[in-house]
Amino acid sequence: MLVKYNLIQKFRKYINNRILRTPGVEFFVKNHDVNQRKKYINFWINRAKNNQSFQKYFFSTIDENKKKISFKIINNEKYLITNEIFESLSSNGLAILENALPEDERNKIIDFFSDLKNKNFKKNRWLKEPSNPGFFKEVDELMGETIIKNFKTLKNLSDQFTKEIYGKIVEPTVQFRHLRQNNTKKEEKVKGASYLHTDRFLPHFKIYYTPHEITNDDAPLEYALSSHKINENFINFYLQAKNFDETDELFKYFQFEKKIVCVPKNSLYIAFTNGFHKRTPFNNLSERSLVFLQYVQRFNKFDYLF
Ligand SMILES: [Fe+2]
Repeated sequence: MLVKYNLIQKFRKYINNRILRTPGVEFFVKNHDVNQRKKYINFWINRAKNNQSFQKYFFSTIDENKKKISFKIINNEKYLITNEIFESLSSNGLAILENALPEDERNKIIDFFSDLKNKNFKKNRWLKEPSNPGFFKEVDELMGETIIKNFKTLKNLSDQFTKEIYGKIVEPTVQFRHLRQNNTKKEEKVKGASYLHTDRFLPHFKIYYTPHEITNDDAPLEYALSSHKINENFINFYLQAKNFDETDELFKYFQFEKKIVCVPKNSLYIAFTNGFHKRTPFNNLSERSLVFLQYVQRFNKFDYLF
């Protein structure tokens, strides 16, 4: 029975990843012709524009009055995300919620991370045995995937964000990533991670939760504020780009204010990663426990086409 279930899961994952996945930069990597790129990008962006919620977040103009990025939700028992937060997110492409989870839920998350730290994986927690995904040369990483139902408030926050941004509730994939940097020297730059880059050209976001403080030594996220807006500059960049990062010629015409996301303990942040972002390098001996919520598996081509 279990074997059959695993096969179905594998098949579903294959279909989601290979066939239904929201388009990324693969097409542009293979096609350098500007007209072909134009056709492709216009097709998908018109599809995205049909979604009313995307209009507000990705196609409207930037509101210069919405500069506040960090919010506290400590006195808000239902953990409701306010309009002020959504408006700031729409304008900046980034929002930070401090005191994001109740203490018992934060502790539960710390306890899940202790599985990864001690390499002692408790039953009924992980979808499969956590392992090193091999993203880093100089840093030890262990990643475990679990389900959002384990974390009530985190699910509540995720649901509010997806309802607002996608126009419907989308279940996230939930990855716990524990990193340990054992070197005292500064990490070298890595393409696709520590250069400012975009993940894809269509509306896209990730939610991150950290139970502990993130400082400059812990490879915090750097985000180019308001770079998620799909406007003429954004599209022109894709028509010409080779590397889809800050080394591309047209990048120099962007004038984004950059924000390094250092946050206190128990913070959640959401970033629109069709905008420019990077992981800053690890600086020193450090440990980082970060939960990643991603939606690309369950909000896919299907949602754009039908
Ligand atoms: Fe990225």
